[in-house]
Amino acid sequence: MCGIFGMIGKSNVVPNVLGGIEGLEYRGYDSAGIGYIEKNKVKVIKQVGEIKNLKTEVGRVNPVSFNCVAHTRWATHGKPNKTNAHPFVSTNKDFCLVHNGIIENYAELKKQLNCKFLSETDSEVILKLIEKYYCENMLETLVKVSKLLKGSYALAIISSKEPDKLFVSKMVSPCVVGISADGTKVCSDINGIGKVDYSYVLENNNFAVLTVDGIKIYNEKLEQVKLKKIKVEKSDINNKGKFDYFMQKEIYEIPNSVNNTVNLYQTFEQFEKVLPKTIVKKTKNIIIVGCGTAYHAGLMGRKIFEQNLNINIKNELASEFIYSKFVPPKNTLMIFVSQSGETADTLKALKIAKQYGLKTIAITNVKNSSISFIADYCFYTLAGAEVAVASTKAYVSQLSMFYLLASYFKEVIMDKIGLVESTANNLKNISKQINLTKFNILANNVANDIYLSQSLYMIGRNFDYVTALESSLKLKEISYIHSEAYASGELKHGTISLIDNNTFVFAFLTEKDLLEKSLSNVNEVISRGGKVILLTQYNLKSDNVYKLIKLNNIDEFYMPIVVIVIMQLIAFHVSVLKKLNPDKPRSLAKSVTVE
Ligand code: AGP
Ligand code: GLU
Repeated sequence: MCGIFGMIGKSNVVPNVLGGIEGLEYRGYDSAGIGYIEKNKVKVIKQVGEIKNLKTEVGRVNPVSFNCVAHTRWATHGKPNKTNAHPFVSTNKDFCLVHNGIIENYAELKKQLNCKFLSETDSEVILKLIEKYYCENMLETLVKVSKLLKGSYALAIISSKEPDKLFVSKMVSPCVVGISADGTKVCSDINGIGKVDYSYVLENNNFAVLTVDGIKIYNEKLEQVKLKKIKVEKSDINNKGKFDYFMQKEIYEIPNSVNNTVNLYQTFEQFEKVLPKTIVKKTKNIIIVGCGTAYHAGLMGRKIFEQNLNINIKNELASEFIYSKFVPPKNTLMIFVSQSGETADTLKALKIAKQYGLKTIAITNVKNSSISFIADYCFYTLAGAEVAVASTKAYVSQLSMFYLLASYFKEVIMDKIGLVESTANNLKNISKQINLTKFNILANNVANDIYLSQSLYMIGRNFDYVTALESSLKLKEISYIHSEAYASGELKHGTISLIDNNTFVFAFLTEKDLLEKSLSNVNEVISRGGKVILLTQYNLKSDNVYKLIKLNNIDEFYMPIVVIVIMQLIAFHVSVLKKLNPDKPRSLAKSVTVE
């Protein structure tokens, strides 16, 4: 993952670059560094841990530079320590490099180079190659070196040999360059590039040369290429508002996020503009692909579609789909879900689908993200920038998108007029049922019950099972409590042996038709001493449950949107009670741009 930011400008760019890299901290935060040209010399400052540590050190040194690159790391190769932190500087002190990605053949290249390496990273090998092949022209050198590399990379390089230029190259890892009145910039995320007049999203095998007043982009034949100019919208990426944490802020934004998604696609015509009716009519099979929370949104998407339509639907984890011996059934449409639109596994799966000639839809939150360019049709959730590692508002917007998309399919296939509009209205009404003040008090209360647990379970059937999966992931990633989601009916096939007097079990019972069966499962847990926290909108006998969370009696079809908000808040409060930082859980990063 990692974030890269760089700038070459008319005046000291260091403060700008530090601000820029801070906006990318969601991409990794185990160490950070800057490399800059000062008095024609390459210099570097690095620190372990969050960017605030780097900022303190930079404040002490107080560098002044017109050409600077920065990196915030999520280690893939080598421990998160100062030696392995980027940037790397060549032995002759002429070159300085930051890298986002993985060099898959680094071990082989290291062997061939047969020289001393200071770090354990794969990235350092690129620097050594640059040093070896430098031909007094960095652009040519970079093209030559890139031909030796296998894997993914976004590179930003500065050199004392060509101090007025900042060199960039891209393969797979996201990379954007932009022009502003104060200079030119490179950034891993289009929404993090800050104030620019316009930007270019680099494509694979693009090489960019940034100077103070312009950007030239080349292909691997060293021919200049013309990319589409993209206007960058203002982003609130660095602003927590009145909240202590981004996660909390983002949960509180959920009602708005749902409305943002709905406003974009509340009429049949709005859908038709993105996805032609002919494609819908032809579709006989749908495969929904994603990772993590986006995968869970896809699981829910399948259930939503199945309620509406007679289409074969499958879900695939992107990281597994890419290895499956895949024989695409005729008339298959593939839907790729990704908040960031940059997840490497999802992008790879999307490319495979395209190789098979299948029609592809992207559901993403980020305008101009890679996925939006590659898929044939793109739906934006536009939930607003999601910075906290744990996906919250984006998930709810993805669910909203599936409700709307399924209605569009139904309207086209069954010729039923007005379905999109009524779904849009339903979603708007549901968003009003998300009573954050009430949910927050409730969640805090439950968090106090469970935060010392070592391990717990979450059970549900059908829609509720997917809610259990997503709630469980949320709790695990930010509280480090082991949590396992189980289809209620599966418990008795093994896992129930783990339930004892100290085990908390969240049970979701929001589907009327499944109440009896699910209640039996709850009783099985209670009989073994399990402490059940039951979430339901129905009047159930609750004498033996540890806690009952009574939900509003809304249309149960939409209940997954409401219940998950409570569970996200519980995970948030547990994390805070454990004195962790929910925004930046250990070992994780927001955007997983490596396979
Ligand atoms: C969510 O809480 C996780 N941090 C993670 O599972 C995430 O959903 C996954 O990495 C997919 O990301 P994407 O939606 O940006 O593709
Ligand atoms: N592979 C490099 C490292 O471990 C970069 C990591 C990344 O971009 O995720 O330092």
